[in-house]
Amino acid sequence: MDLDTIVKNGRIVTASEILPPGLQIGIKDGKIVNIATSLAPAPHTKVIDAEGAYITPGGVDTHVHLAQDNCPTGDDWETGTRSAVAGGTTTIVAFCGQEKTDTSLFPVLEEYHGRSRGQSYVDYGFHFILTNPTKEILDNELKIIAEREGITSVKLYMTYERMQLTDRELLDIMMTTRSLGMTTMVHCENSDMIALITERLEARGLTDPYYHAISRPMIAENEASYRAIALAELVDTPILIVHMSSEVALATVREAQTRMLPIHAETCPQYLYLLSERLKGDNFEGAKCVCSPPLRHEKADLDALWQSVANGTITTFSSDHAPSKFYVEGGKRLGLIDGIPRFREIPNGLPGVETRVPLLFSSAYGPDARISLPRFVQITATNPAKLYGLGALKGSIAPGFDADLVIWYPDDYFMDGLEVKQDMLHHSIDYTPYEGMKLKNWPRYSLLRGEVVWDRDNGGVVGKMGQGNFVKRAKGELVMGKMGNHVKGMLSEERQMWA
Ligand code: URP
Ligand code: ZN
Ligand code: ZN
Ligand code: ZN
Repeated sequence: MDLDTIVKNGRIVTASEILPPGLQIGIKDGKIVNIATSLAPAPHTKVIDAEGAYITPGGVDTHVHLAQDNCPTGDDWETGTRSAVAGGTTTIVAFCGQEKTDTSLFPVLEEYHGRSRGQSYVDYGFHFILTNPTKEILDNELKIIAEREGITSVKLYMTYERMQLTDRELLDIMMTTRSLGMTTMVHCENSDMIALITERLEARGLTDPYYHAISRPMIAENEASYRAIALAELVDTPILIVHMSSEVALATVREAQTRMLPIHAETCPQYLYLLSERLKGDNFEGAKCVCSPPLRHEKADLDALWQSVANGTITTFSSDHAPSKFYVEGGKRLGLIDGIPRFREIPNGLPGVETRVPLLFSSAYGPDARISLPRFVQITATNPAKLYGLGALKGSIAPGFDADLVIWYPDDYFMDGLEVKQDMLHHSIDYTPYEGMKLKNWPRYSLLRGEVVWDRDNGGVVGKMGQGNFVKRAKGELVMGKMGNHVKGMLSEERQMWA
């Protein structure tokens, strides 16, 4: 075959194994067409020598906020997706956000297509954030959104006044997403618990960034996680609980999984590497690490999260990239009001789309590894692709898949480690929470559909803005399956009378 590109001399990692060294990957028209011990180049075939390094599937980051109305000073599509390819992510799924005043989803979708079209360095899709599930949306629009527009997932919020849904609304949406096979993501925190604590902290003048973490305790995440699972169980719908941060809530998920309920969990780098002490510090520095759920307090909390990553409770690992600049126009800082910190006013979310893959890769080999390399591939690429209906195109290194690849440096290339620095990143945010952290490796090349879009040593981001395509997604795969007769405290005959 007349190949466009051959990648030779790498160690291919898939979700199940590390393949023997020396295999070559043949690429034609953006697809992987063969993997063999020896492939013949044509005169014009480009040959990339991986020099014995690992090759992993291009990262699939299915939780990225870009140019959303609730992230006013954050990254836009150009800067956010440029940052993605530089960190080995070649596909993202971002959000279209319905506001409570939007009674139809179609104008919202047009708006978000307008913000991203021609602006992306990576392939991308959208999830729909539903905040006002009208009868028309549930009865008619969502079916068209899923089947014609290729948007096969929704995100539902149990907190944040602007987006939050009642339990009845969650149930109504879950009935619909179940019938359409849409992947249903839920942000689980108990809104009233948070409101109570916040008011009482404020009344005592406790408004520094650190109190953000106090205002959103683990029990608020756990209560909402349990409730979301119970609602999902009642109406027989698989769900995915996003950005999980605490051991108690993960134990609740694990209990449901043990009963064979299709409950999936996502976590993010910040919950594996950062603690709430980062919310302290002079000069309002703590505002840089305000996210929800918040960073937790103790090293044991991080260890518990690592356990859930290793033991399979966690299905997927996303960035939840939702950053705001620390300094905005005029040297102002959001959440610092007349010199007084007000944690309630600090925009939530950290930058992380560029560092997600290199951070976890650095924890997936060597003497201090927390997980295996195949597990790294599962949760950074293969599982998210499957969860969100990209499983036939993305997230795997095999013939027929898009040639989205990350080629790393040979293992001993960074003898003293590679230090994360804000000035090496490609976002338009003015800090990284991982400043100074030592990593083992960084993507040397990222390939999107066979084209080199990141070449760290020769030009950096060499892809073009607009090279990334909007991808219409199929129904998610991992979330298939019925809860059926498993419902706790309800006979299946009972359920059949109304479901
Ligand atoms: O703090 C966060 N995660 N902000 C982004 C919005 C969300 O809930 O994912
Ligand atoms: Zn030819
Ligand atoms: Zn959320
Ligand atoms: Zn988010």
